[in-house]
Amino acid sequence: MQRLRILSCLITILLIAAVDSTKDTAVRFQLTHRDTLLPKPHVRSIEDMVGDDQKRHNLISRKRKLKEGVKMPLGSGIDYGTAQYFTEVSVGTPAKKFTVVVDTGSELTWVNCKYRVRGKGKDENRRVFLAEESKTFKTVGCSTQTCKLDLMNLFSLSTCPTPSTPCAYDYRYADGSAALGVFAKETVTVGLTNGGTARLDDFLIGCSSSFTGKSLRGADGVLGLAHSDFSLTSKTTSLFGSKFSYCLVDHLSPKNVSNYLIIGSSSTTKTAFRRTTPIDLNLIPPFYSINVNGISLGNTLLDIPRQVWNAAAGGGTILDSGTSLTFLADAAYKPVVTGLSRYLVALKRVKLEGVPFEYCFNSTSGFNERNLPQLTFHLKGGARFDPHRRSYLIDAAPGVKCLGFVSAGTQATNVVGNIMQQNYLWEFDLKASALSFGPSTCT
Ligand SMILES: *[C@@H]1O[C@H](CO)[C@@H](O)[C@H](O)[C@H]1NC(C)=O
Ligand SMILES: *[C@@H]1O[C@H](CO)[C@@H](O)[C@H](O)[C@H]1NC(C)=O
Repeated sequence: MQRLRILSCLITILLIAAVDSTKDTAVRFQLTHRDTLLPKPHVRSIEDMVGDDQKRHNLISRKRKLKEGVKMPLGSGIDYGTAQYFTEVSVGTPAKKFTVVVDTGSELTWVNCKYRVRGKGKDENRRVFLAEESKTFKTVGCSTQTCKLDLMNLFSLSTCPTPSTPCAYDYRYADGSAALGVFAKETVTVGLTNGGTARLDDFLIGCSSSFTGKSLRGADGVLGLAHSDFSLTSKTTSLFGSKFSYCLVDHLSPKNVSNYLIIGSSSTTKTAFRRTTPIDLNLIPPFYSINVNGISLGNTLLDIPRQVWNAAAGGGTILDSGTSLTFLADAAYKPVVTGLSRYLVALKRVKLEGVPFEYCFNSTSGFNERNLPQLTFHLKGGARFDPHRRSYLIDAAPGVKCLGFVSAGTQATNVVGNIMQQNYLWEFDLKASALSFGPSTCT
C-alpha cells in the first residue's frame, strides 16, 4: 500500500469540472435498492443474498491476508462483487448511461464495454459502452508505470506484447464469475445537487469486455467508492470537498422509494447528524473501518473480548455498502444471539433451510418487536449506533423472522452490512477521518 501511494503521486489524474463554482454544490446519485431492478423482485430470496454475502466475506478476509504479507500472484485477481444498491452513471463523449452497483468496498469503477472487437455480438440485454465511439476514451498503455505498479492492486496483468497494448485486468470473483477488460482514462459525467452536471475528465475506468456472475445481475458495472487513489470519492475530493454521504432506504421498500448518494457536502443532510466517530482509512484498506468498543442490549454491556474489535489482532470492523448482512466474529456473535434469544423463548423456533441464521422464529402470533431490547454498538469517541430493530430482525420467509447476524468464525473482520445501516444517514469525511451518522427516513 505504501508503495502504491507514493507512486500514484507521480501520475497526475486530471479532474476538470465543467462548472465554475463547485463550492456550494455536490454530486448527486439516485440510489435504488437492487431488488427493484430485477425482473421479478420476489425471486431474489434471502438465501441468494446470504450466499453472495458469505463469498464476499471470505474475500474480505482473504484480501486482508494477502495484504499482510503473502505475495499476490499476478494475473489472478480477486474482487468482491455483491451489493444491493444501484445508481446510474454517464460515461464517455457523448455520454451514455449505465446502471452500476454502488460499492464502498470496490476500488475501480467499470462498465460493460467493447473495445476493438469485431462484430456487434449479442449482449444479454445489458447496456454496452462502445469505447471507440467515445471521443474521450484513452486506454492506459501496458508498459506504463501506472499499469505495471499502480494498478497492481487493481489486478492489472503483466502481459504486454507491444507498448501500445492496453493495460488489461482479470478479476476473479469467488463465486466463479470474472470480469476481464482494459483500463482506460475516460470522462464520467455526474449530476449535481444544483441540477447541473459536471464532467470528470481522465478518470480511471475499467472497460470490461466480459463479466459474468450472480452478484452482478441487473448491473452494467460497478461504482467504486472504496478508499483508494482510483475510486470516485478520491477523485472528487478536490472539486467537491472530502465528504460523501448516503442514506439507504429499507431493503423491503417499494420500488418507487429511493434516495441519494451525495459526494461533497449536502446542506440538506446536516441536521440529521447527531453522532460522530473516527473512521480509520488505513487500518483495513481499502475498506472504511470503524472502531467498536462494545455491544450492549438494553442497559447491559455484553461480555465480548476486546481483541474481537482490534484490527491489529486480526479483528476489527468495517462499514460496507456492498454486503447486505452483518458478520460478527464468534466471540461477539454468540453473546449477541444468546442475549437476544432470551427475549424470544416464548415463540416457536423455526428451522429455515439455506440460510445461515441460527435463530429464526414464527412471528405470526405473540411477537412484539418492542419487547426486544435495543441493540447498541458503542463506538470510539463515545458515539452510539442504535440500529432500528427491523435491521437486526430479518424477514426471512412469510411469518418467519431471524436474528440478522452471521457468524464470521473465530478470527475475522466484523462487517456492518447495508441492512444494519438502513434508515440512517451516513456521512464519511475523508479529510477529517470522521464518520457522522443519525437516524433518518431517507426521504
Ligand atoms: C409509491 O407508490 C405507492 C403505491 O403505488 C404510493 O402509495 C406511495 O405514495 C408512493 N411513494 C412515493 C415516495 O412516491
Ligand atoms: C406460525 O404459527 C401459526 C399459528 O400457530 C401457523 O399457522 C403457521 O403455519 C406458522 N408458520 C410457520 C412458518 O411455521
